[in-house]
Order: sequence, then structure tokens, then C-alpha cells
Amino acid sequence: MKKYVNVILLYLLGLTAIQAQNYVPAPENLKAREEFQNNKFGVFLHWGLYSMLAQGEWVLHRENLDHMEYRKLASGFYPSLFNADEWVAAIKASGAKYICFTTRHHDGFSMWDTKYSDYNIVNATPFKRDIVKELAEACQKHGIKLHLYYSHLDWDREDYYPLGRTGHGTGRKNHGEWKTYYEFMNNQLTELLTNYGSIGAIWFDGVWDHDQDPDFDWQLPEQYAMIHKLQPACLIGNNHHQVPFEGEDIQIFERDLPGENTAGLSGQDISRLPLETCETMNGMWGYKIVDQNYKSVETLIHYLVKAAGRNANLLMNVGPQPNGELPEVAVARLKAMGEWMKVYGETIYGTRGGDVTPRDWGVTTRKGNKLYVHILNLEDEGLFLPLKDQKIKKAVVFKNGNPVKFRQDKQGVVLEFQEIPNDVDYVVELTLN
Ligand code: GLC
Repeated sequence: MKKYVNVILLYLLGLTAIQAQNYVPAPENLKAREEFQNNKFGVFLHWGLYSMLAQGEWVLHRENLDHMEYRKLASGFYPSLFNADEWVAAIKASGAKYICFTTRHHDGFSMWDTKYSDYNIVNATPFKRDIVKELAEACQKHGIKLHLYYSHLDWDREDYYPLGRTGHGTGRKNHGEWKTYYEFMNNQLTELLTNYGSIGAIWFDGVWDHDQDPDFDWQLPEQYAMIHKLQPACLIGNNHHQVPFEGEDIQIFERDLPGENTAGLSGQDISRLPLETCETMNGMWGYKIVDQNYKSVETLIHYLVKAAGRNANLLMNVGPQPNGELPEVAVARLKAMGEWMKVYGETIYGTRGGDVTPRDWGVTTRKGNKLYVHILNLEDEGLFLPLKDQKIKKAVVFKNGNPVKFRQDKQGVVLEFQEIPNDVDYVVELTLN
């Protein structure tokens, strides 16, 4: 008898393993992926207790602060100038179509009214306002999608155990059980996916904490299945710096364009899932008072265009201040990007990476029979495009519709300019046959 039970058990185990490996995205999920790709541009917001210390979101780990001492920040957190509506309006003005907000970062503090931990914005601070709720409402009002960042790792809880490679110096003395931590995460995720309307994506981070013990089992398939059951259209992304795992809907890159690896986090192959790369507007994710080194408007626009030309979205980060405001410089940058997007949005939104792969001079994006040639950096009056199988019907300067001279032969197309293009992004619109 026992033998039969074992056989059946093995069979069932095998079945769930197979099921886990055969994730079939729901139709609404596939639709959400398309929309996500069409949106092209989002703003990342890293905001939490760490903002008060103004040294970035890793300060608890980096300074080996005692987590019980760090927790005391909560009773002093009163971001008196926080106004979700103003945030979302400023973000919308940039042309971004979604935000991604840190609901709970590695420090373990929850920015919403969660019943699974008192260490949260409503119960532990004098502010007592549910930030996620206010953001969800503002997003709804402005037609902006809400994505939620959620940290898998935790530098505060005793039951985030075994530890990974970070957070050893935060003074945790007792060890709890992974099982309770896993349940805690799933309960919190359930709250986030139940109480805040439709969530565009869950953006996980922290799996890399266990990259030195890669056999560590995060039990992701069950968690992913739970998310897709609660909201089938919710996209799952995980910033684990590897090719996407089964059950994920988008592929994330950190601080590099897909195909590049200057930050050392992006050697992984590019999958066929929708792509997104995140980057900081200055040098840090969470607010850092000494870092006023904001990227120029031109650099930011170039990054967005280069991402689009690589078929990827850009998630550009802003670290709000402890008083609840977005930094003034960041707001000015967002506004300038928005002004550019008002003119050039058509060459970005709804496009996919174009027929000519990224080059030193720039990139191409494609929508229908339009191919947009984004010239970012050309020191010549002519540009060769290796478009062999495409016949060009028309070539114009996107911003004013003026015709661009071109010749076409078997090798491709040569565009001829009267002078060297020197706009931030000189866009030529090609109409293909
Ligand atoms: C890294 C950092 C984290 C940040 C994230 C954003 O994984 O650990 O602090 O939130 O990148 O991409």
C-alpha cells in the first residue's frame, strides 16, 4: 500500500514540477505585456525610512547599523510635504506612463497599511498615512500605471533566514524560520494585489542576495502563481540579474542598456520577454543629500531613446526627499524630458526596436511602416543604413516634415543631409513600402 502511495506522490510531485515549468500567460497578461512595451517610459521611486538618513537605501547594511536602532527612525518620519497628486502630476509631465514604487525595501519597512507587520507607515510613524493607497489613487486619477517594487530580502526580520551575503551586521540575534518569512511575503503581496486596484507589475529585487548559495530555494513558482491568480494581468519582473525564470513576464536590466554591461550586473542573455532597464537620475536610488550629480537632460533623453532602440523600456529613478517632496532638480529634469516627449513621443511610444540595430551614431525605432532613425551622434553629412530588404518611399525630418535626400541600392540606403545633424536627437522618419 505504502509503495502505491509513494508512487502516486511522486507522480503528483512530477506533475506540479511540470506545471511550474509550463507557465502559460493569461490573455490579459499578454495584452498587459504589449501595453507595457508601448508605454516605454516609467519613473522609479525609492522612498522609505532610509531617505531620512540621506545616504541611499543601503545605509542599514553599509554602515552596519543596529536594526533596532534604525527602527527608531519610524517614530520621527513625518514627510509633511508629501502630496501624491503632485508627485504623479510631475511624473506624468515627463511623459512617463507608469511609476514603480518601493513598497518595502531591504530595510524591511512597509510603506502601506499592512496587517502583517507593525513596522509600517501607518502604525509606526506619526504620519499614519498609507502612501501606497494615496499613490494608487493619484495614479488612477492621472491615468498612470502603478508598479510595485518588493524586496525579497530583508535586513530587519529574524525569519529572513538563512541570511544571504548582505545584512550580517544589523544585529539580529535570533533566527526565525524561512517558512514564516515566506508566508509573510505572500500575505503582504496578497494585500498589495487586493487592496490597491489593478497593479501593473510586481518588481522583485534581492534574489541576488543568495548568489553565493545558488541552491537556496526562494520558492518563486508558487509565489508567482499566487500573483497571477490574484491579478492575471500583473506582470512579474525580478531584478535577479539572470535570464528570466519561469513565470516571469518581463526581463529587467539594472544600470545598463540590454546588451551592454558597464555596471557588471548585466552579462545575462536577452530573452524574448518585454525588456526594461532601470537607471538613476543622479548616482543613487534612495535620496542622497551629497549627490547632486544629476544627469543632463540630453543624457536622459539619449538613454530613453537608446533603450527604445534596443526594444526596452526605461525606468528612470528619482529618490524623494525625507520631507516628502521630489527633489527640485529631478522635477525640472522630468519636465524637460516631457517637453521633448511632447514633440517626439510618436517616435518612442508604441514602437519596437527598429530594423537597423543600435550603432555608434544612434538607434532606430519602428511602428507600422514608419522607421524612425534617431541620430544622436553623427559627425558626417551622410548616413548609411544597411536596409537591404526594405524599399523607402519617403524620408523626412520628423520635427518639420522637410524632405531628406536619399539614395538606395542593393547594399542599403544613404541619407544625405545639408549639414551635420546636431539636435539632441535628430529624427528622420522613413516611410517604408
Ligand atoms: C539594486 C539595489 C537596490 C535598488 C535596485 C534598483 O538591486 O540593491 O537598492 O533598489 O538595485 O534597481
